Amino acid sequence: MDGKTKTIGILTSGGDCPGLNAAIRGVAKAALGQGTKVIGIQDGFRGLVENRVMPLEDKNVSGILTHGGTFLGSSRDKPHKMNMGGKVMDMTEVAVANARKNHIDCLICLGGNGTQKNAMRLHEAGLDVITLPKTIDNDVAGTDITFGFDSSMAIATEAIDRLHTTASSHHRAIVCEIMGHKAGWLALGAGIAGGADVILLPEIPYDMEHVVEHLMARRHHNKRFSIIAIAEGARSKEEVAEGPKKKKPVQKERDGTLLIEEPIACRVAREIQQAADIEVRFTSLGHVQRGGSPTATDRLLSTRFGTKAGELLRDGVYNVMVGLKGENCVAVPLAEVAGQTKVIPANHAWLKTAALVDTCLGDELDFQ
Ligand code: F6P
Repeated sequence: MDGKTKTIGILTSGGDCPGLNAAIRGVAKAALGQGTKVIGIQDGFRGLVENRVMPLEDKNVSGILTHGGTFLGSSRDKPHKMNMGGKVMDMTEVAVANARKNHIDCLICLGGNGTQKNAMRLHEAGLDVITLPKTIDNDVAGTDITFGFDSSMAIATEAIDRLHTTASSHHRAIVCEIMGHKAGWLALGAGIAGGADVILLPEIPYDMEHVVEHLMARRHHNKRFSIIAIAEGARSKEEVAEGPKKKKPVQKERDGTLLIEEPIACRVAREIQQAADIEVRFTSLGHVQRGGSPTATDRLLSTRFGTKAGELLRDGVYNVMVGLKGENCVAVPLAEVAGQTKVIPANHAWLKTAALVDTCLGDELDFQ
């Protein structure tokens, strides 16, 4: 599209996180300030397909900077595979037609990896888009960090702090399960910040014997409690050898029934208890990690990302994701981001940091 953007639509898609409202506010205020009409779309891509939209004015986006969640609502629906009354249908054309009906020149999509892919599909179907990288998992490529990550890391760190005092009082090992999907950023960051004794990550298949040895060595040194931070996507060496993990979410509804998989923390706690003479407990932090008010760092990042999107709209730069590179907000071609997952590289500095404070990462590692 050439020239000034006259109307934008904003939607939030995928799992929510702290900082979404701050980002919506950033985009909307910047856009309204340059005379662009702003339309809010409810419940992610489903709202676009069902044409559930509302005009956003300054009064709608004032006072929301500190609020958790997303006032637009979110869903995990994909336009190309949407359940429409029990039938899964490709609704891409309807989504694009509704954007046109609302005179949307550019659709702003706030979301994680799934959203980057869905936005790319809409772009391929003829719609101009700009995306913002949102997720507590921090696993979006093309940006140093995603918004939501810092807030969740703070929540998980506080949880580990609290587990420390009770573990220490009862001389127990406590296994704490931390979200992150297939990436270990959250478990590693919170594990280091909370001083976990063992951190198990999807990126490093763990050896239970090695973990138990570490726990026994702690006991030998008269350290009578331990905290094990485990990423929900962590897998043992044996599991990895068996092949790719079956797609099995922690909680999912099927035919009206809520399926709940046993938390990995529970299984690992049982294995430790069996292998070592240690009393073990487990806790799975779950959606607590996604709730509540964003940290100052996330408010700042979300506002910067949102207002950078405003700048790109002004300049007519579309089909990009706003990312952070060093100190700067940059526009990254969406094609370079969609379909990628940013996991922890084997030589990442945080891994070395953890090893240097004698944290067991589940296996023998050499950081020389
Ligand atoms: O992607 C964010 C995330 O919180 C993951 O860490 C987690 O695996 C997933 O979403 C949980 O999804 P839901 O809220 O749909 O259960």
